[in-house]
Amino acid sequence: MSDAVLSQFKQTVVEEKKEAGKKLKIGIIGTGWIAESHIQSYKQMEDVEIVAAADLIPGKAEKFMQRFGVEGVRFYPSHKEMIDNEELDGVSVCTYNTQHAAPTIYALEHGIPVLLEKPVSVTLEEAEAVCRAEKASGKFVSVGFQPRFDANMQMIKKIVDSGVLGKIYYIQTGGGRRRGIPGSTFIEKSTGGIGALGDIGCYSLDMVLNAIGYPKPLTVSGYVSDFFGKDPKYNGADAARFSVDDFAAAFVRLEGDIILDFRIAWAMHVNTPGDTIIFGTEGALRIPSTDCWNGSFYKPMTLYHDLAGERVETTIPLLKTGASLFDLKVRSFLDAVKNGTPAPVPTSQILYNQAIIDGICKSAELGHEIEIDIPEI
Ligand SMILES: NC(=O)c1ccc[n+]([C@@H]2O[C@H](COP(=O)([O-])OP(=O)(O)OC[C@H]3O[C@@H](n4cnc5c(N)ncnc54)[C@H](O)[C@@H]3O)[C@@H](O)[C@H]2O)c1
Repeated sequence: MSDAVLSQFKQTVVEEKKEAGKKLKIGIIGTGWIAESHIQSYKQMEDVEIVAAADLIPGKAEKFMQRFGVEGVRFYPSHKEMIDNEELDGVSVCTYNTQHAAPTIYALEHGIPVLLEKPVSVTLEEAEAVCRAEKASGKFVSVGFQPRFDANMQMIKKIVDSGVLGKIYYIQTGGGRRRGIPGSTFIEKSTGGIGALGDIGCYSLDMVLNAIGYPKPLTVSGYVSDFFGKDPKYNGADAARFSVDDFAAAFVRLEGDIILDFRIAWAMHVNTPGDTIIFGTEGALRIPSTDCWNGSFYKPMTLYHDLAGERVETTIPLLKTGASLFDLKVRSFLDAVKNGTPAPVPTSQILYNQAIIDGICKSAELGHEIEIDIPEI
């Protein structure tokens, strides 16, 4: 996003604040690692008051707010007490994956819009429950995919939408690290629920699915493994408690006769499982692989196409976004709350993302391809 665009956006915020004359009361559920980025962004927003925080670990939320110098916050032992006792305009759900659905649904049932960290859930059933609660509430959930706000990421969609690639028929995507297994709550079934799939896999799926308009996934043949996570040689003392995937791969059929070939790794014996490539009948786009789809592009994309009968390559210059992706994510949520506009990253799309992840896990367990069944919400 250019500076000119960004300054217009700041001006709008100031004007709205004058009109509304009231600050948005925000609560934070889960005060761990990612909550740090939420609070840093909220603190910069003049129209926000952080009024409440909850964490299951006694004293954690208090220390968190002290660390960030935020005063006047009321503290609660879980999302329930917080939501029961506060009048909130919005909440950030920053809990680990297995605790995404319950606080989100509870907030929606109390009429509170939610900025929910990614992945939306662990299972498709939980994602469906979130979508149903959202529909019933008339409020919205926006999912924390900050890469959506990266100018390069947006360029992928613009290129696809321009038609220069023709009909898209095959996509390979994914990414990963040669060695990069996180610790903390990411690696246990009871907290993370899923591993590399939920941590970074959901980003690479979102990157390409958003670019092509989120077609419905139809079938999936999935594979997951945990060779590195469970081996003390590679994962030290954490190996004993490692109970999620550290690698996943899948062959997915999407509506519109599109094949998605996907792989994601927290650890492997190669530097990258490959660039993302979008194959179209008129051109192809190569998006250089990164360790982790956190929205950072370190090399330009390349467009391969024919021009005047010759095969040519066009380098797409790296674009500058002009603001922190985390700030843009939080700001987009606040603006939707204020203006009553749709969720910036809607669950109607992310439901399909979660359906693929869920399908990979189920197919891997069964050892064969499965149909993906997504009910109408
Ligand atoms: N968008 C990003 O770039 C990004 C980056 C890292 C993590 N994440 C996501 O953020 C989420 C949290 O990750 P993290 O590393 O901060 O985890 P964490 O374990 O550091 O923090 C989660 C906190 O939530 C608390 N908690 C759990 N259930 C709760 C409940 N019902 N009520 C109140 N508190 C509760 C836990 O006690 C813990 O302190 C994960 O889903 C992860 O995928 C997103």
